[in-house]
Amino acid sequence: MSLTPTRDDKFSFGLWTVGYNGTDPFGGPTRPALDVVHAVERLSELGAYGLTFHDDDLFAFGSSEAERETQINRLRGALADTGLIVPMVTTNLFSAPVFKDGGFTSNDRRVRRFALRKVLRNVDLAAELGAKTFVMWGGREGAEYDSAKDVRQALERYREAVNLLGDYVTDRGYDMRFAIEPKPNEPRGDILLPTLGHALAFIESLERPELVGVNPEVGHEQMAGLNFAAGIAQALYHGKLYHIDLNGQRGIKYDQDLVFGHGDLHNAFALVDLLENGGPGGVPAYNGPRHFDYKPSRTEDESGVWDSAAANMRTYLLLKERAAAFRADPEVQAALEASKVGELAVPTLNPGESYETLLSDRSAFEEFDADAYFGGRGFGFVRLQQLATEHLLGAR
Ligand code: GCO
Ligand code: MN
Ligand code: MN
Repeated sequence: MSLTPTRDDKFSFGLWTVGYNGTDPFGGPTRPALDVVHAVERLSELGAYGLTFHDDDLFAFGSSEAERETQINRLRGALADTGLIVPMVTTNLFSAPVFKDGGFTSNDRRVRRFALRKVLRNVDLAAELGAKTFVMWGGREGAEYDSAKDVRQALERYREAVNLLGDYVTDRGYDMRFAIEPKPNEPRGDILLPTLGHALAFIESLERPELVGVNPEVGHEQMAGLNFAAGIAQALYHGKLYHIDLNGQRGIKYDQDLVFGHGDLHNAFALVDLLENGGPGGVPAYNGPRHFDYKPSRTEDESGVWDSAAANMRTYLLLKERAAAFRADPEVQAALEASKVGELAVPTLNPGESYETLLSDRSAFEEFDADAYFGGRGFGFVRLQQLATEHLLGAR
């Protein structure tokens, strides 16, 4: 298995990721601005296949029509020169002061109408550039104070917005789906649709749920103490994994946006194993972009930016290789068997069985000796986890 990224690996990066200039709430930039053409060229050389962006990453908020066109054309030129594509586009509804109380769910109705127009304009651009996924991260859709936001009405306005977008892409004939990106907090004290589960429930309330899925981010679920790989498994189960944001996070704290794997490495291993080997018969469970949404730390210079971009892809490929070795190891297969991992796929009822036959099955209850059943035997999950650890460490 090659550790050199190729276009087939479908690695993509946000323009705002490699373009992050180091600004944080406590200090200004530590690096100069990065030009989009340069970003496309360097990402292409490193083996990425895609660039994603927010409208405001490419042309500053409030740009004139001419400035906007110039930047779009410069991007188009760089894409044509390198063969990179734009698999996903998203809208910035969080940086400009007008969005200080949100976009789709601002208490102020005129802001909500402006937000919708900004997104519709960007959906047109996304379609022109061939993007198949439109991400919605509602960073400012939330509140700090419970009495300041009527959450049920905010959900209603969010729903109104997404329904309108669904109508729009359908009427225009765009081949595009939406992906909601959950995050529990930051920049707001509490953000609407804080976790994957909240987003999945919300999607089912929409008029065109088939057009809307999720774009979960490793660090965002982990900021809430949740198991990211398990959340992704549920998103896949519901057929809703439309996009994914890969990065690293070390526990429940501010959104670190570290390089993929530079956080909970065990969970990153489980995630790559799931994405690459979790489909029926061991094929990939997910075929979309492997999108890195990270921030090169503000301690780094420009060469550190490209080192960190390469590190994301290399770590992914290393984990993919380690996961393949794990799956191929006969000892792992025996341990999986001993742990009855496969037995969970067997339906609990016999074919055609109803509660009546279950009730009449004495072996299921009356003759089942629950106290003696295991005879003291365990499941062996720890042994299985140690085998995973040994593969992860390259010891097997
Ligand atoms: C974050 C988010 C953002 C979004 C991006 C897409 O780190 O808080 O991941 O980076 O993904 O803005 O809209
Ligand atoms: Mn993040
Ligand atoms: Mn993200």
